[in-house]
Amino acid sequence: MPHLRLFAASALVLAAALCVTVGCRSSGSRSSSARASTTPVPPGAAFAPIARVLRHPRCLNCHPSGDRPHVGDDRRRHAMNVQRGPDDHGYPAMHCATCHRPANQDAALVPGAPHWHLAPRSMGWEGLDDHDLARTLKDRSMNGDRSLAALREHIAEDPLVLWGWDPGVGREAVPTPHAEFVDAFDAWIDAGAPTPPAGTTSTF
Ligand code: HEC
Ligand code: HEC
Repeated sequence: MPHLRLFAASALVLAAALCVTVGCRSSGSRSSSARASTTPVPPGAAFAPIARVLRHPRCLNCHPSGDRPHVGDDRRRHAMNVQRGPDDHGYPAMHCATCHRPANQDAALVPGAPHWHLAPRSMGWEGLDDHDLARTLKDRSMNGDRSLAALREHIAEDPLVLWGWDPGVGREAVPTPHAEFVDAFDAWIDAGAPTPPAGTTSTF
């Protein structure tokens, strides 16, 4: 089957060309992470890329320390005096789902995702430095009784988290690609989920 051999040979050439354009970059990043594991890393460095994302307005607007969601990159108060209410879904007349549907409504400029509601008060991250943010995140009495593996599953799959990368018209997505965020979370867990020292507040 000479045709088949020729085809296989050109596929190999193509794959090699692809490696030059794409693969070399990924092998470069692998070797830099290998380097990172042999040289001492400042404590807290593993958490910084995670903290930056958690503090992004797409996340923090729904994880306030008070009773009201915030809106936009300037994190202004939500209009119409919307509040968390008794169960984080808003007061009856102002239930989150009255306006926030399971998907973004771009024509009406209302963001949406399944089970849209405010993060419970114990998951309010506003005003915390990286040290307190990491502790709060890991504390099972505050994080919805989640193990590190359950937290990882949440940030990889929960529709409210994924919405941060598809926030609809007029809103900036979280700048770190979602896959990189999950990788950073894995790296932090692999490092023993260290709590960074107090006093650092990582942002974009
Ligand atoms: C629409 C509101 C909303 C948005 C937007 C949102 N969250 Fe949440 N988040 C919640 C709610 C509600 C819970 C609690 C869910 C539960 O316990 O089942 C939660 C829980 C969590 C938890 C687990 C509990 C904890 O505090 O450790 C993590 C981690 C989390 N969110 C990360 C994020 C990230 C990252 C983003 C942005 C990319 C984000 N969230 C955006 C509402 C939101
Ligand atoms: C009466 C309708 C209405 C109700 C009720 C409502 N919202 Fe909103 N919400 C909106 C609209 C409209 C916007 C877009 C505002 C804008 O972009 O200026 C919005 C935006 C938001 C945002 C901003 C997202 C971002 O990052 O910019 C969050 C977070 C939010 N709402 C959470 C909630 C939560 C949580 C509840 C229930 C406790 C709730 N909303 C109840 C209409 C409502």
